[in-house]
Amino acid sequence: MPHAPFWGPGELRYTSQMAESFNSKVLTDDRTQRYAEVADEIASVLDGEPNLTARMATVASMLASSFDHYFWTGFYVVDPAKENELVVGPYQGTLGCLRIAFGRGVCGAAAAERRTILVPDVEAFPGHIACDSRSRSEIVTPVFGADGALLAVFDVDATEPAAFDERDQVGIERVLRETFATARP
Ligand code: SME
Repeated sequence: MPHAPFWGPGELRYTSQMAESFNSKVLTDDRTQRYAEVADEIASVLDGEPNLTARMATVASMLASSFDHYFWTGFYVVDPAKENELVVGPYQGTLGCLRIAFGRGVCGAAAAERRTILVPDVEAFPGHIACDSRSRSEIVTPVFGADGALLAVFDVDATEPAAFDERDQVGIERVLRETFATARP
């Protein structure tokens, strides 16, 4: 089924003032191709916007509204006031846990190891944190800014087991790289 997100642009005209009116774009069924399309849309919407919260909120909203398998979508940001602790940032979905220590759960592991972690079955992941018991699988990707600094992790949960694969990893890593590569906390 074609998927039409609320922000979908009907035409190739992008300004921040027009973001609300991108209503009629129909995205392709192919998951890899869809990530490429959404990556371009995100870059267009965020063109010229330096604010980190605005960038994270836009990425969470646009990705969540573009993929039916996304259930919880959002950022856990490295807290500058506390060593090795993540605090919840912009997200789409049910109430998320507020804080996660580095090394705890999937998010904490991805932060500590600075790599994407794909979890096909959350119950099989030692120390998984169940913010919403409907989550069955997830992917967590580190977000790097200028000079390779770890800014946050990006967490996507699904209600289906094994919902994410390499197509999601490549697509998400691309969006995060392109959106945050020059960002500073
Ligand atoms: N499942 C995550 C916790 C965050 S929430 O699911 C929103 C984890 O184990 O890191």
